Amino acid sequence: MENLKWMLFSVLLCLYGTEAYKILAVFPLPSRSHGILGDNMIKHLLDAGHEVTYVTPYLKEKPHPNLHQVDVTDNRKIMNENTLDIKMLMNGTLSFEDPDVLFGMMFGMTEATMTNPNILELMRKGKFDVVIAEYMFIDLYSAFGPVFQCPLIWFSTIEPHWMILNLVDGPLNPAHSADYTRHRVAPFSFYERVTELWDLVVALYKTSHSYNDKVKGVYEKSVVPILKEKGIPVPDYDEVRYNGSLVLGNSNPAIGDQVPLPQNYKHIGGYHIDKNVKPLPENLQKIMDSAKNGVIYFSLGSNIKSKDLPAETKEGILEIFRGLKQTVLWKFEEVLPNTPKNVHIVQWAPQPSILAHPNLVLFITHGGLLSLTETVHFGVPVIAIPVFADQFQNAKRVESKGYGKEITLTENLHKDLKPAIDEVLGNPRYAAAAKDLSKAFHHRQTKPKDDINFWVDHVVKTRGAPHLRSIALPIPLYQRYFLDLLALVFLSLVTLILIVRRILCSLTKKTNTKVKKN
Ligand SMILES: *[C@@H]1O[C@H](CO)[C@@H](O)[C@H](O)[C@H]1NC(C)=O
Ligand SMILES: *[C@@H]1O[C@H](CO)[C@@H](O)[C@H](O)[C@H]1NC(C)=O
Repeated sequence: MENLKWMLFSVLLCLYGTEAYKILAVFPLPSRSHGILGDNMIKHLLDAGHEVTYVTPYLKEKPHPNLHQVDVTDNRKIMNENTLDIKMLMNGTLSFEDPDVLFGMMFGMTEATMTNPNILELMRKGKFDVVIAEYMFIDLYSAFGPVFQCPLIWFSTIEPHWMILNLVDGPLNPAHSADYTRHRVAPFSFYERVTELWDLVVALYKTSHSYNDKVKGVYEKSVVPILKEKGIPVPDYDEVRYNGSLVLGNSNPAIGDQVPLPQNYKHIGGYHIDKNVKPLPENLQKIMDSAKNGVIYFSLGSNIKSKDLPAETKEGILEIFRGLKQTVLWKFEEVLPNTPKNVHIVQWAPQPSILAHPNLVLFITHGGLLSLTETVHFGVPVIAIPVFADQFQNAKRVESKGYGKEITLTENLHKDLKPAIDEVLGNPRYAAAAKDLSKAFHHRQTKPKDDINFWVDHVVKTRGAPHLRSIALPIPLYQRYFLDLLALVFLSLVTLILIVRRILCSLTKKTNTKVKKN
C-alpha cells in the first residue's frame, strides 16, 4: 500500500515537473535535538519525492521506502548523554567558551565519522545530486562535494554566527555580534567590543592554522585516497572548505538578531514543528484541561537531565512549585518523592502539544533553540535557565525581545525562580511580547519546509548556485577593512613627521651657527 501510494505520488510529481533528486543528508551528531532537526529535514525532502541517503546515529526501524540509512551509531561511543555533566557545567569545569574545548569535542566526532567504514564505503559507491551537511564547527564535510562531484549545502543548527558565515561570506562584525557561546547581545560596551574583536582574531587564527592543519590531516588520510581511486583530480582543501553553495539556517529573525547576511544564507527556522499538533496523551489532556489557574511547563531539554541537579536544588524547586496556584508539568527522568498535588512529573513530554494548549501560561526552559522556536511558534512567555553552548545568548535575546526572564543555573536556582515566575506571570507585557513575536514569526510568504525544497532544487538546477556566492568571500579581511590603506597612511604620516623634523633640525642648526658667527 505504502509503495503504491508512493508510485502514484512519483507519477504526480513527474506530471508537475518537479524533479526527484538523490540527496545525501549528513547528520552524524549523537544528540537528540540534532536528531530532531535531521529527521524533519529528511521528512520534508522525502515528502517532496526525493530519494534520501541519511547519515545518522539514530537508525529507524521502518524507514520510508525512499530512505537509505548510513549507520554511524559508533559516534554514540564518543559523545553520549554523560558528555554533558550538569554539575560540571554548573561549576564551570566544562565550558564551551574555550574554542579548544569545542574544537576538541567536534574534531573527535568528525574524525570518527570520516573514518567510519560505512562512510568510506558510501564515499566509494554513492552517487548524489546534492549533499546537505550539518555544520558542527568543523568544515570537513565540505569534502563530500568533490567526492560526489555535486554541490554542497551547509545546514547550520543555530542563529547565524561568525564561523558558518566565514565559510560563505566572512565573519560577522564583532562590534555587534558576539561569539555564539558568549553571554552577551549588542549593544556592547567598549570593553566588550574589544574583547569580542580580540577573541575573534585569535579564533580566526586558530581556525586557519592549528585547527585547519588537523582537519586537513583527516582530509589527506580518508578523502584523498578515495578521490584518487575514483580518478578525480584532488582539489586543495582550502578551496574545498569555502566552496559550499548555500547555508540553510535553523534561524528566524523573530527569534534571533538581524545581522547582515549574504544572499546564500536562508532562514528555515521552525521547519521541525509539525503544523498539525498531535493530540496530548489522555492523562496530560485531563490535567491541562482542568488547570483553572493555568499550567507551567518545566523542561531542561534532552541533553541535560533534571535528575542530575543537586539534591537540595531539586527539593528547593519542588517547594517553590508547591506554593504556586498553577499546575506544574515537570519533565523529569525519575520518580520524585513527596510531589505536591499541583505538580505532575512527566518522563516523556510531547512538548509542542503542551505548548499549544490554551491553558499553558509559562514555559521554564534551558533556552535551547528548538525549545525557543516552539515557544515563539505558540506565543508563550518563558523563563530561560541557560546551561551550555548557544543557550546563554539565546536567554539574553529572550530578555532583550521582552518575552521572558533569564535566571542563572546555580545551586540556589530555586531562590531566583520564585521572583522570576511572579514577574513573568504578574506582568502582562511578557505574554504580549510572546504573542507579537509569534505573529511576526508566522507572517511569511512561504513555509520553512517549502523553502528547504525550493532552495535545494535551486542549487541543483543552477549547479551550485554560483550567482548567489558572496562577492566578499575571496577578499582578505585586511583589504575589506582597508587595513592596508591604514598602514599606508600611518607610514606616510611617520615619514612626513621624520622629514619635517629633519628640516626643522637643520634649520635650527643653521640659525645657531649664524647666531654664533654674529
Ligand atoms: C565540579 O563538578 C565536578 C562534577 O561533580 C567535580 O568532579 C569537580 O571536582 C567540580 N570542580 C570544582 C572546581 O568544584
Ligand atoms: C565548487 O562547487 C562547484 C559547484 O558545485 C563545483 O562545480 C566545483 O567543482 C567545486 N570546486 C571545488 C574545488 O570543489
